[in-house]
Amino acid sequence: MKAKLVVDKFSPISKIDPRIYGGFIEHLGRAVYEGIYQPNSKYADKDGFNTQVIELVKKLNVPIIRYPGGNFVSGFNWEDSVGPKDDRPVRLDLAWRSIETNQFGMHEFEKWIKKINSHTMMAVNMGTRGLDAARHLVEYCNFPKGTAYSDWRIKNGAKEPFNIKTWCVGNEMDGSWQIGHKTADEYGKQVNETSKAMKLVDSSIETIACGSSALDMPTFGEWENTVLNRSYENIDYLSLHRYYGNEDNDTPNYLAKSKDLDEFIAGVIAICDAVKARKHSKKQVNLSLDEWNIWYHSKQKDEENQPWQKSPHLLEDIYNFEDALLIGSLLITILKHSDRVKIACLAQLVNVIAPIMTKNDGEAWIQPIFYPFMQVSNYGRGTVLTPIEYSPTYSSKDFERVPYLESIAVVNEEKNEVIIFAVNKSLNEDMELKILSDGFDFDRVIEATEFEGYALKQTNENGQMHIRANNRIENGQQTTTINLKPASWNMIRIKLS
Ligand code: AHR
Repeated sequence: MKAKLVVDKFSPISKIDPRIYGGFIEHLGRAVYEGIYQPNSKYADKDGFNTQVIELVKKLNVPIIRYPGGNFVSGFNWEDSVGPKDDRPVRLDLAWRSIETNQFGMHEFEKWIKKINSHTMMAVNMGTRGLDAARHLVEYCNFPKGTAYSDWRIKNGAKEPFNIKTWCVGNEMDGSWQIGHKTADEYGKQVNETSKAMKLVDSSIETIACGSSALDMPTFGEWENTVLNRSYENIDYLSLHRYYGNEDNDTPNYLAKSKDLDEFIAGVIAICDAVKARKHSKKQVNLSLDEWNIWYHSKQKDEENQPWQKSPHLLEDIYNFEDALLIGSLLITILKHSDRVKIACLAQLVNVIAPIMTKNDGEAWIQPIFYPFMQVSNYGRGTVLTPIEYSPTYSSKDFERVPYLESIAVVNEEKNEVIIFAVNKSLNEDMELKILSDGFDFDRVIEATEFEGYALKQTNENGQMHIRANNRIENGQQTTTINLKPASWNMIRIKLS
């Protein structure tokens, strides 16, 4: 099959906000305990952090990490997690029906985040708590000194403020499962007042209001509309969450699900802009896709989980090769919307629906989804170009006219190179992809890699999966032709003259 991608210098979509390569660590299962933190492991550093995990997270180059939840945050008393460890209370975590020891808390997270060269995106509890706890937390984290909460932080060992800039005001408040779930009207008023108060403490912060926790929520649309109506001028981003699965074992349909994400994002943008127009506002609310991933492999097993364990094995999806292809397609979709999606967090990062896993002794290993995320996060920096694609299409159970080629080009102005990410969704046909320049002077291909040749259901527990070089390239004038294998994830870097 033949396909084309025109790399058009004259139609940039947007500069990429690096925060679209964010991650997520929740107090859930073994994400924190036995994940990033395992003091009794032979891989632990002096602070108890798993050094193998640190090295792998660094490879993913995640500039921001959402913490501490998720559903967990809606029952979390942040004050429990600071101060001398011996004085911290053991609590029931109602979200995951686990035991939370609070031996890892906000100061430990801030120490860890520095080690991985990232930044915190803090979520506040809008379930069992509200405005007062949220404003005190901003004061604790960001106020320099001389007040009750800032001095308490200093007493607890952090002289310098944490200086956290990005704040989620609650989590999935539209969901009936959420502790302290609210109607859109109740939450709309709450997020407006809370965000206002948080910004009075520190006017440099940005806040995210909860949008829908999935596209198929019955309140989708109405929720966004009402919440934005109530809070538009006091918040900066609206969140959306989306998880996928291949429950029907229908791979063509599964790989087409990036179309669903595309529609979801477009729908939320439309609602934001409708509210903006109605309010005659000059302000633009952007999107924070602060939970996205594949989540289905572990669901059945989790139903058998016994409650009230410490760090139980929960949401431990073991990903396979086709999952990596979908993750690549979803990353491309996020890039296509980089003019409005300014934050996105792969949910999650370690052990819980994660690209990085640890064995019981702390030895770390990577899942297939690690690879596309690592490549896009490291090389997808610069400006996204509007993809002008020509590709044969197919239809699947839920989607019409799905292009076999899913691709995007990014120009990295500093490095003077164009980077192309591409998925060939055909399960049995090679694709001859012609990459044509409009406005750029292609010099040469400096790197072409492919992730292909594995069975769709193959996992990486034995570490046998790798990205390899692709040498099936022909260079013409202003044209590069490359052969993409069936069911493949690809990256091509072209130096510009
Ligand atoms: O990421 C796992 C869970 O998914 C989060 O806690 C919640 O916000 C979402 O439903």
